Amino acid sequence: MSKSYNIGVIPGDGTGPEVINEGIKVLKVAAKRFGFNLHFTEYDFGGNRYLKTNEVLPNSAVDELKQHDAIFLGAIGHPDVKPGILEKGILLHLRFALDLYINLRPVKLFPGVECPLKDKGPEHIDFVVVRENTEGLYAGSGGFFKKGTPDEVAIQESVNTRKGVERCIRYAFNYCQRRSKDKKLTLCGKTNVLTYAFDLWERTFYEVAKEYPEIKPDYAHVDAITMWFVKNPEWFDVIVTDNMFGDIITDLGAMIQGGMGIAAGGNINPEGTAMFEPIGGSAPKYTGKNIINPLAAICAGGMMLEHLGQREAGNVIERSVMEVTGKHLKSLAAGHMGYNTSEVGDLVANYVGK
Ligand code: IPM
Ligand code: MN
Repeated sequence: MSKSYNIGVIPGDGTGPEVINEGIKVLKVAAKRFGFNLHFTEYDFGGNRYLKTNEVLPNSAVDELKQHDAIFLGAIGHPDVKPGILEKGILLHLRFALDLYINLRPVKLFPGVECPLKDKGPEHIDFVVVRENTEGLYAGSGGFFKKGTPDEVAIQESVNTRKGVERCIRYAFNYCQRRSKDKKLTLCGKTNVLTYAFDLWERTFYEVAKEYPEIKPDYAHVDAITMWFVKNPEWFDVIVTDNMFGDIITDLGAMIQGGMGIAAGGNINPEGTAMFEPIGGSAPKYTGKNIINPLAAICAGGMMLEHLGQREAGNVIERSVMEVTGKHLKSLAAGHMGYNTSEVGDLVANYVGK
């Protein structure tokens, strides 16, 4: 009997549903070609539902989503909803509730994609950031003292547990080994100033490194890494870092790979359900126009298949996207691709089906 996977789908806000449609179109073609089944169950969480019902993401939905093999997420963020409510209530809530402790962000420049870096091409930009996804400054530890008075104090603490740091670092070493590119893992930290948090990270990193003699452990401060991303991105293979630094450096990573139209990511619990998403956001001004670039969502779908064990299908999706960027699209920017959203989905689907 062929394998079946249950996928929970949260199209979300803005252009989320449009790009998710194209992602699903491509996933269905891949499933047919490689002989497995995908069952999609859609959930309407996001800004519209919140504005209508005041409900963000009930616990019953979290329990249901947990039962799926993976979650495919479009975008969260609505212009009429105060910033933070949906991001915290849906995206961060799922990261914590499902213990999605890895945020995996490939940074790869595809053929034909315009790179903002001078003299850099696809041979220079191909690395992966492993971001810790459940701790650090995102843990919500801290508080106010004398709020609203002239003596107000606000404290926001970075929480780093040995267990949380170690499991993330271990994942990164394993990933680096599987990826088998340069076999180099760079810890991105700030050991010269954050002498508690990154002391723990650094000690753990070099301890775990002893178990992986074939991987070269490397270290860079976060500020220097932003400089190297621009100057020498070819130095990197896999980078591991904490939640906040990972958030920041992956936006820079997205820009050097051609922008938000192509940047995909996975929120992963290696032992449980994982959630895959284009990282670009809901782009409300493009909503309903059929001009948004769906490639990031399509790539996120490819990552999802790879995570589910359908490696070849995931690879074919990535290679098909590379054909489309290399041979068809004029630009990755919404409205300037030379094709509309659904036509770009068709182009990729066509290569996947071949
Ligand atoms: C990301 C996003 C989120 C984050 C926001 C929307 C809470 O920027 O996935 O990188 O900060 O993690
Ligand atoms: Mn971010």
